[in-house]
Amino acid sequence: MSSFIKVKDLCYRYRQNMDNVLEGVNFEIERGEFIALVGHNGSGKTTLAKIIVGLLEHKEGIYQFTSREGKVLSRRELRKKIGMVSQEPNNQILESTVFKEVAYGLREKGMAEPEINDIVEDILHKMNLYHVRKRHPYLLSRGQRKRVALASIVVLEPELIICDEPTAALDYSSSTTVMESLVKPWKQGATIIFITHDVKIVAEYAQRTILLNKGQVAIDTDVRSFFMDHHDELEEHNFITPQITELANRLNRVTGRKLASVLRVSDFVDQVVN
Ligand SMILES: Nc1ncnc2c1ncn2[C@@H]1O[C@H](COP(=O)(O)OP(=O)(O)OP(=O)(O)O)[C@@H](O)[C@H]1O
Ligand SMILES: [Mg+2]
Repeated sequence: MSSFIKVKDLCYRYRQNMDNVLEGVNFEIERGEFIALVGHNGSGKTTLAKIIVGLLEHKEGIYQFTSREGKVLSRRELRKKIGMVSQEPNNQILESTVFKEVAYGLREKGMAEPEINDIVEDILHKMNLYHVRKRHPYLLSRGQRKRVALASIVVLEPELIICDEPTAALDYSSSTTVMESLVKPWKQGATIIFITHDVKIVAEYAQRTILLNKGQVAIDTDVRSFFMDHHDELEEHNFITPQITELANRLNRVTGRKLASVLRVSDFVDQVVN
């Protein structure tokens, strides 16, 4: 059976006379992965996400999404299986209250109102939005709007959720709320791709990291190897390692210790104390 997502020699340009924005991208994704997509501003992350979700159509290379039933989906069909939270939350607002906004997709699916109420109330509580449920989404803060956009995708239980900079401009507590609301569908079998510039979020949540550089995959590996084995390359790409990883690397160099795979403070404490 073919992989869940297959991207082969994928190229994309916005206009005929422009340079390629994606220049031969290759990777495969299995179901249930939790992936961080990172890279410079302008490296092509959002463009790639829009192709995956079917908003943009590529002309060169292969992109295949195989549904749970084993069917390779057409671009139109993708939208039913993939939810994308865009980089700009205002782009997704369709309704006049937060409650209606989150309920929108469920109503479109024809779900009964009592069931919709239960599902929407539940997610609004979990995402700390219940108190603003009657407000117009435009009147919310940027962080709240981002959470509304994510909530309205998560309730639809897509096979793949792509979140474009889910924690940008969010405070620590909102970032955690947003990331935890991705962990829940992931634990229930969804695949997650999140785009970010936040090193700490990558270290904390990703299993695998794909780094794009000038429209090509520069690094694609599990998150521990990403930070521990690609240190110099990351610096070249202006992507810093978490401070705790840096500290472990320097201690290893100076003291000859062998602290391995330190991404989080807990990794460090475990190895130094034990
Ligand atoms: N609608 C568009 N028309 C023409 N060029 C575009 C369009 N959208 C993006 N681009 C160009 O494509 C390139 C990749 O943009 P993209 O938005 O995919 O990058 P990104 O990695 O998501 O960047 P960021 O981290 O800033 O969000 C950039 O050079 C950008 O200027
Ligand atoms: Mg982007």
